[in-house]
Amino acid sequence: MADNNLILEIRDLRKYFPIVGGLLGRQVGLVRAVDGVSFSIRRGETLGLVGESGCGKSTTGRAILLLHQPTSGEVVFEGQDLTLLPTEELRKLRVKMQMIFQDPYASLNPRHSVQKIVGEPLMINGLMKPGSPELRARVAEMLQLVGLDPFYMRRFPHEFSGGQRQRIGIARALSINPSFIICDEPISALDVSIQAQVVNLLQDLQDQLGLTYLFIAHDLSMVKHISHRIAVMYLGKIMELTDRNELFNNPLHPYTQSLISAVPFPDPKLERKRRRFILKGDPPSPANPPRGCVFHTRCPLAVEECYTIEPEFHEIQPDHYIACHLADEKGSSKIPEKTVLAAELA
Ligand SMILES: Nc1ncnc2c1ncn2[C@@H]1O[C@H](COP(=O)(O)OP(=O)(O)O)[C@@H](O)[C@H]1O
Ligand SMILES: [Mg+2]
Repeated sequence: MADNNLILEIRDLRKYFPIVGGLLGRQVGLVRAVDGVSFSIRRGETLGLVGESGCGKSTTGRAILLLHQPTSGEVVFEGQDLTLLPTEELRKLRVKMQMIFQDPYASLNPRHSVQKIVGEPLMINGLMKPGSPELRARVAEMLQLVGLDPFYMRRFPHEFSGGQRQRIGIARALSINPSFIICDEPISALDVSIQAQVVNLLQDLQDQLGLTYLFIAHDLSMVKHISHRIAVMYLGKIMELTDRNELFNNPLHPYTQSLISAVPFPDPKLERKRRRFILKGDPPSPANPPRGCVFHTRCPLAVEECYTIEPEFHEIQPDHYIACHLADEKGSSKIPEKTVLAAELA
């Protein structure tokens, strides 16, 4: 039975990129950018997706939108597996899914006016005619919605600040009334002072329009305020997924613990007591992932089975999913030392 509360379900999603080499351009290997990822997103929620650069977050997002054809796995949106749909049907559903990018400058055509940029999805999808009064009205409405003055719609991207450009990107994504938006590091390139404004805007829009977000970031501090649940990704796989508060107060995966120990506490007293748990080295290459648990080469707690047997991603407590041999039903009882203080979610 399809669960109506779920807008999206991905099952065992994989995206491998071929590595071609040599003079003949033969395939010499595979980059396992996304390697068996499963999660679902509830209608109206924000699922945060975090992990170090290169762990496969953007590829996951692009595979969900079929901007990258998945190597295998299912992408069930509104009850239908997108990977199996004929082109025409897919087009109809794809309109409901949009993406907001990290660098609003690179993703906005510098030679197009704001009016054209924001109206383009409507024109491409044949919903409104270029130059029509209804298109202009819609663009004005969208600009107002994101807090920009429609008066400036004839201007070009370079005439706006970084935060304003991100608002233009959001207006463009919203123009065709999507229900689901993938926000791919939408605030990483912005000044810290502007980040909160854009996060607040996205939250207001979610409330107003009933949107569902997949919110991608490389660091937990960026997803902690906006996310209802958070998925932690490492080397193409999800390591842990649970409710935001549960993740911060009861992180079970050593990788999640290391990420949380890197988030500063707003309270200076707590901050002084904060124990840091720093991982050595860089993540291995997704072209040559370690056997067993992919995290074992950096895990301070790895035991023998971690070197040979891949831990299954499973529900360890209600709504708390993890891929780690060390966590059991009682939580992290096999993990010797509590490395993390309960985080303040200010
Ligand atoms: N189009 C592509 N062709 C080949 N390899 C790619 C492509 N896109 C991403 N990759 C590789 O896949 C891995 C995951 O990349 P990406 O999804 O961009 O990570 P993230 O968004 O988490 O930083 C990286 O090793 C990256 O080099
Ligand atoms: Mg990325």
